[in-house]
Amino acid sequence: MEKFAKLVIDGKELTLPIIEGSEGEKALDIRRLRQETGYITFDPGYGNTGACKSAITYMNGEKGILRYRGIPIEELAERSTFVETAYLLISGRLPTREELTRTSVYLNDFSPIHENMKAFYGSYPPKSHPMGILSAMINALRSFYPELVDLDEEMNQTFLRLISKIRTMSAMAYKISRGHRVIYPRPDLCYCANFLNMMFDSPVVPYHIDDDMVRALNVFWILHADHEQNCSTTAVRAVGSSKVNIYAAVSAGISALWGPLHGGANQAVIHMLEKIHKDGMSFDECISRARDKNDGFKLMGFGHRVYKTYDPRAKIMKKMCDIILGKATRKDPLLDIARRLEERALEDNYFKEKNLYPNVDFYSGIVLRAMGIPTNMFTVMFAIGRLPGWIAQWKEDLGDPEMKLCRPRQIYTGHEINHYVPLDERTEES
Ligand code: COA
Repeated sequence: MEKFAKLVIDGKELTLPIIEGSEGEKALDIRRLRQETGYITFDPGYGNTGACKSAITYMNGEKGILRYRGIPIEELAERSTFVETAYLLISGRLPTREELTRTSVYLNDFSPIHENMKAFYGSYPPKSHPMGILSAMINALRSFYPELVDLDEEMNQTFLRLISKIRTMSAMAYKISRGHRVIYPRPDLCYCANFLNMMFDSPVVPYHIDDDMVRALNVFWILHADHEQNCSTTAVRAVGSSKVNIYAAVSAGISALWGPLHGGANQAVIHMLEKIHKDGMSFDECISRARDKNDGFKLMGFGHRVYKTYDPRAKIMKKMCDIILGKATRKDPLLDIARRLEERALEDNYFKEKNLYPNVDFYSGIVLRAMGIPTNMFTVMFAIGRLPGWIAQWKEDLGDPEMKLCRPRQIYTGHEINHYVPLDERTEES
């Protein structure tokens, strides 16, 4: 039975249909609101706004649930690989053995970078942030591979080209930034092992591929593969809604992810832990500074727009941390600090009252450090992982007949009508 809500504005009654999702999430359909009443809704940051219907990822922030296409994140982290999870997100179902093999063949075929693109890397100043380079390079792919995407195909070659090339491009950016020789992809290695090899192999010291590291990277990328309508995915959908090509839309997602409140948080966590270590800050000092509104210090890696309980990904990442660091010969003092800081924050009233729990970034930086990934590459690692989610969401948006060009409204608070003053009559007040 269809449900409705009633809204009375200026004495006029409006009936708003209620939309219910498959997990019981409810929304008021306000599409006729402005047309019939002249009002719009006001929701900065869109925390209460459903911008689309989506069948890709379900998350419940109160219960700490995250599922891709219905499959709990815990099962995928335990049993799947990043490539299989990418297939699941984009096509809507797990691949058969044959489909998975074909996917691997394409990923291998697409993995080299056009030699002309290598020249771009050399033109960047040495200290350029790899996210800026990556975003530009992904956009540039459109000029090298102008083929269009056929939305009817479950797993389009353009998607696989993107997934394959982002890995090579990222490892290449790292090698070039260090002035090292570029290591080319190897067809005998799986997606994650290939990435680690391109990052760390060298003609002088051959890289030993460690199965636990490969597993940890699979898990890291699975956990980051999608997170429904987060900031970067919203950027991809908004830019994609103008019907621009997928490379431009993904490039916008990379730019959005770069910020410290989003993908840059794992890097910010490491900087915070290093500062605590270096300055010898006590945990009490950290907590009281994080509580103080006038102090810019925040507990990075704590709090989340949606999760108001422990982030399910953080639990998995914490376990991964124990496995990887358990093998390390050298102890990482930052892990101890992270563990004790977490304990201290979880028993603090401020954090309890505001439901501030560790998010995935709190431990992922430590895992990436243990793999040897430099801090300025952390956000790039996140971007590689999030790519299948962006593709899946872009594809869903374009294939949904209800979706429109993204164009929110505003409440204008500027001058009422004002008139142009010629330059020689102008004062500071005019
Ligand atoms: N440390 C200290 N206080 C925090 C905090 C943190 N990490 N995160 C949130 N708070 C406080 C805010 O100051 C605010 O206090 P107030 O109610 O007195 O104004 C309250 O908790 C709600 O936070 P708010 O920033 O309004 O929530 P949000 O949903 O807009 O923000 C984040 C979510 C993620 C941006 C925020 O928690 C944050 O900045 N966390 C640190 C960065 C981070 O880890 N980002 C990764 C996200 S995966």
